[in-house]
Amino acid sequence: LPSSRVSLTVNGTRRTVTVDNRTSLLDLLREHFGLTGSKKGCNAGACGACTVLVDGRRVNSCLTLAVRLEGVEVTTIEGLADGDQLHPLQQAFIDEDAFQCGYCTPGQILSGVGCIQEGHTGSPEEIREWMSGNICRCGCYVKIVRAVHSTAG
Ligand code: FES
Repeated sequence: LPSSRVSLTVNGTRRTVTVDNRTSLLDLLREHFGLTGSKKGCNAGACGACTVLVDGRRVNSCLTLAVRLEGVEVTTIEGLADGDQLHPLQQAFIDEDAFQCGYCTPGQILSGVGCIQEGHTGSPEEIREWMSGNICRCGCYVKIVRAVHSTAG
């Protein structure tokens, strides 16, 4: 099967791998790099559990081909904290109790970071709309939006 070599930076660490051309970024992270924080919910772009940042922009990593990512910077939930210091949005999720089962949480947080960086945080309604690609089966939306809103300031 065709494979390609790709070099990218993941959470600040440069990585070079040779992967099957069909490998998704999500599988690259989980299966090749052991970064299992990004979750595989639907594997079809419908749930947002796999959300990561690529060069600061939110993507569904299940829909992103790894071999297309030469030279990019990827941020996953494992790379968000600064040592023992949680990212403010991670702390806000704890403070607001913004999860139950936790499966969607890494994707929610990366999407929330993207939403804040994009400036789509003027109101709870705006946050809800710009995070509508992230599904929470436990229905924690009110608290998730509250966490993003309080972090955005
Ligand atoms: Fe990627 Fe659901 S696993 S959107």
